[in-house]
Amino acid sequence: MIKKIKLKKKAKVIIIFIICILLITTSIVISTTKEEKKYSQNLTTEQKYINKLKKITYYNNKYKKRYISYHKKNKKLTPEEVVIYVNIGIDKPYYTNTKPTKNLNSNTILVNKYNYLTKDYIPNDLEEINTTYARSGMQLVKEAKEAFESLAEAAKKEQMTIIAMSSYRSYDYQVELYNKYVQTDGKDAADTYSARAGYSEHQTGLAVDVYNNDLPYTSFEQTEEFNWMQKNAYKYGFILRFPKDKTNLTGYQYESWHYRYVGKKVAKEIYKNNLTLEEYYVKKIEKN
Ligand code: DAL
Ligand code: ZN
Repeated sequence: MIKKIKLKKKAKVIIIFIICILLITTSIVISTTKEEKKYSQNLTTEQKYINKLKKITYYNNKYKKRYISYHKKNKKLTPEEVVIYVNIGIDKPYYTNTKPTKNLNSNTILVNKYNYLTKDYIPNDLEEINTTYARSGMQLVKEAKEAFESLAEAAKKEQMTIIAMSSYRSYDYQVELYNKYVQTDGKDAADTYSARAGYSEHQTGLAVDVYNNDLPYTSFEQTEEFNWMQKNAYKYGFILRFPKDKTNLTGYQYESWHYRYVGKKVAKEIYKNNLTLEEYYVKKIEKN
């Protein structure tokens, strides 16, 4: 009798043990299947998204993972914006992922916080701007210089005074300038308005800062000359390089006084479509 009871107990323990094992195994199987399902769902969502991006002309397969992660952090952006912004590089912090810029000595050269010029880069054909339209010693690349003189002359005919107060800057001069700003305002503030040496497009000989010979250049936006530039600069091949509404793309605060020569055709396209040089470059210049 005692033996029978013992056997029954043993059987009970074994049955409970088996049930436990079964329960554990089932729950493991269920959770693994769920995980797999979730994973495959995610994969197809990502795959679907990438397929959508692939239809965009400037999609670049080498940025696939960056597109997905930028999209996840910026759900409101359109697929086209995601591709353009990642191609520009703004998914990475400024001054990281930098590379030497291409298209040296071309009007569409892109110099910004991701694309730099080397210390020894001096553009070809630098010429001094006529002092009727510039402070003395201001240089630009010949084609840009001639275009700037025509622009300033046209403005003068309408009683506007447009004077170049800073144009080509050497690498070494930019070092001095940037360091001075860092000393005055600190590095973080300086980085919002001054380029580090090698990263300034003033080194291309295609950029010019202007003022109206009356108000300081930082107040250029309040002048009639600024309104004139808004309407006419593109006709001479210049663009407002750091617009108010695109500071995240250019990497700099709004500069109403800084203009960049890109040639008439490109300037018109940039102006009419409200683009930055970064956007234009990604869409039209960069070959994937
Ligand atoms: N102020 C512009 C960004 C420069 O330093 O080149
Ligand atoms: Zn400037």
